[in-house]
Amino acid sequence: MEIIIQPTPEAATSIAAKLIAKLLREKPNAVLGLATGSTPVALYRELVALKLDWSKVTTFNLDEYIGISPQHPQSYHSFMWENLFQHVNVAVKNVNIPDGMAKDVPASCELYEKKIKAAGGIDLQILGIGTDGHIGFNEPTSSLVSRTRIKTLTQQTIRDNARFFGSEEAVPHHVITMGIGTIMEARQNLLLAFGDKKAAAIAEAAEGPVTAMNPASALQFHATAKFFLDAGAASKLKKADYYRWVYENKPVWQQF
Ligand code: F6R
Repeated sequence: MEIIIQPTPEAATSIAAKLIAKLLREKPNAVLGLATGSTPVALYRELVALKLDWSKVTTFNLDEYIGISPQHPQSYHSFMWENLFQHVNVAVKNVNIPDGMAKDVPASCELYEKKIKAAGGIDLQILGIGTDGHIGFNEPTSSLVSRTRIKTLTQQTIRDNARFFGSEEAVPHHVITMGIGTIMEARQNLLLAFGDKKAAAIAEAAEGPVTAMNPASALQFHATAKFFLDAGAASKLKKADYYRWVYENKPVWQQF
């Protein structure tokens, strides 16, 4: 696991954007795994500004709420079109987001897994992290080998996401999410986290034991996982000085 700590979310976002841009330039038909929420908004803005060619890119989103239509302003479909897809030349047929209105949700989850495989697997997965350590919507105690499926949100996540819906009551309880096993198969995993509110979850994920109680800790078993943090999210890391020193002293051949 590589931990990159920057003074601000903007600085951390820029480095992550550079890595994603490098992949899209080297592999124009890359398969990207995408996240929603507040964290990647600036990342998507930066990727749009880089004017990359998305015409051959395939995307798979991590998750979606069950029971809200793609047109709902808080659906992850709406989020993705608003924040990224409408600003780049991605082909609509190459965009994949779990279907929260599917008649047979378990069957749609199985199909989603098949589509990821058929696309050749995910080259690079973008992740945020919940204050309870969730990645995608894999809440604590999720199986570390889980696949795309239905999950029930924790009270903590419902409270955290109430800011998007106006009230806790309006937040759907059920979601479709890629599993931890699905995420672990991505060839690269970039996790972004900003602010003190994420500090405890990040410290547990990076320096605690690998446990289903903090699903992001599974990334300790991912060969190339990278965490991009601002000072707030890094504030509870015991070895923060070491991570900073490593990044600042990278020889040219190791720089991003
Ligand atoms: C969203 C997702 C979630 C969020 C997490 C953090 O697609 O997968 O894991 O990344 O809930 O959300 P924010 O960024 O809003 O703090």
